[in-house]
Amino acid sequence: MCSIIGYYGNEIAAPIIVKGLKRMEYRGYDSVGVATESNSQIELKKGVGKVEEVNSKIQLDALPGKIGIGHTRWATHGRVTDVNAHPHSSNSGKLAIVHNGIIENFEQLKKELEKEGYIFQSETDTEVIANLIQKNYEATKNVKDTIIKTVSELKGHYAFVVMFENGQLAAARFHEPLIVGIGKDSYFLSSDVLGFIEQTDNAIYIENGNFVIVDKEKLQILDFNGESIKQQITRVSKEFADAYKGDYAHFTLKEISEQPDTIFKAGEKTKEEIKKAVDYIKNSNNVYITGSGTSFNSALIAKQVFAKYAKVKVDAIMSSELQFSSDLIEPDSTLIAISQSGESADVLEAVNIAKKVNCKVISIVNSLTSSLARISNIVIGMNCGPEIGVAATKSFTSQVIIIYKIIEELCNGKLKIDYNEISESISKILENHAQIMRIAKEIKEISDIYVLGRGIHYPIALESALKLKELTYIHAEGIPGGELKHGPLALMDSNVFVIIINPNDSTYLDTLTSSREIKARGAKIIGISDVKSDVYDFWIEIPKTSELSYPISETIPIQLLSYYAAIEKDADPDYPRNLAKSVTVK
Ligand code: G6P
Repeated sequence: MCSIIGYYGNEIAAPIIVKGLKRMEYRGYDSVGVATESNSQIELKKGVGKVEEVNSKIQLDALPGKIGIGHTRWATHGRVTDVNAHPHSSNSGKLAIVHNGIIENFEQLKKELEKEGYIFQSETDTEVIANLIQKNYEATKNVKDTIIKTVSELKGHYAFVVMFENGQLAAARFHEPLIVGIGKDSYFLSSDVLGFIEQTDNAIYIENGNFVIVDKEKLQILDFNGESIKQQITRVSKEFADAYKGDYAHFTLKEISEQPDTIFKAGEKTKEEIKKAVDYIKNSNNVYITGSGTSFNSALIAKQVFAKYAKVKVDAIMSSELQFSSDLIEPDSTLIAISQSGESADVLEAVNIAKKVNCKVISIVNSLTSSLARISNIVIGMNCGPEIGVAATKSFTSQVIIIYKIIEELCNGKLKIDYNEISESISKILENHAQIMRIAKEIKEISDIYVLGRGIHYPIALESALKLKELTYIHAEGIPGGELKHGPLALMDSNVFVIIINPNDSTYLDTLTSSREIKARGAKIIGISDVKSDVYDFWIEIPKTSELSYPISETIPIQLLSYYAAIEKDADPDYPRNLAKSVTVK
């Protein structure tokens, strides 16, 4: 979840590292730090806050030297404090380390090191790795043997970069991403290509269980036994360089606004893979679909449309729950795994469980070079460009479009979805920010908001509640319309707002009745519908469309509402508190 970066080259390292960290901030942003090597001395600065903030306070980018490491943190072990921020140096001060992941046996290792006289300043597991490396380096006197010994002692999931005071860098990968960027006379060791994309588009994706050593402008890749590994250089897609806000105030607003175009790109470069996926699905006894957060909400939509249009029964299982209900997975089945990043730890774990019982894996991912893509049998690309805003927006609609493309293929030409209609409908909604901004002002002070939908609109209600929670910190809950009288009605009074998702389809009249029942209890109603009604205190109009366009159209106003309510509340919509975009730890 944290971002790590190392730089070895001919230019002053710190400004390059700070730039890379700003681009990777989506991975974690509660604190930041940089360490560099200059004249065989390690210089280190770190502090709590976002990169821009901390840098203007303590000038991380003014550190001297041409070799360095940097980190943005998403706290796991230890509170958000200056001391717990990375990099961490070892007791001797002769090395510093940045780390992403969790060391499961850190307490035991810490106790052993303490017995040997090591002193710890922070509450982190990372400082344990720093001192373990120091101990092993003092014993072996060389970096290669030090890393081999250290990784053999660590349990957990990690990627780290360590910098020695003689200017050598080493980095190891175990179930957390590590990518080497190869520039002109320079190397980058990074969690994400965004860390170095401004400098180079040549990259090596380090395989799991390997490590690298960079010194004297030479790069070695080795496995954890010390055997040399040959790996190909990949040319990273230039579209990653798109990760700029442009004229938009925030990435989130930019990404919401891109949806009229991104829905056309979903799955377009992987048409053959969609055909192959359909073969798997048709020939499989059971089909399961999994994901986390927003991606799980897409899975719930898939469950409904697969059954209704293609008559295929699909079981949707939340990735974080699948490990506890693995008995639900019949051997020799198909698992569809949805993940924007392709790095969510729970999703990867779910896939590994399914693979153990010989299931085929179809993944729907945005990052085609991700860990999920690498372990899947078939990979379908969302192709919506980098999504930097922590709350998923355009990736959600791209996922839904790919699900639609799969059901079209399953229906053998009998179902035709009008993607132009979907795109035009999104564009129309995007033209009307004014009404949504007014409503954002109304909801900014409230503490509870509910979102009600029936049938296919229920997963949209869940996704809407998730967006509101993530961006506005208002308690938000999705309610299946029919369940209103089985509990949620007890919560309705004049202090709450209820968003009613009510397009004019087969769910319309029942949902209108629910709205009246809620209104009678004094709650304020925001209706999202193509039909006006006096029951709505606020009406957000969506265009009249065909049935399958509605789930996408009705998502857009809630993305915008969440964004504008965050602005009203002075919350940062791109980087909500306590969250991270890519949850690579369980
Ligand atoms: C995190 C993000 C969510 C995202 C979820 C799944 O919780 O904050 O926005 O929906 O991870 O991410 P994935 O990359 O697997 O789709």
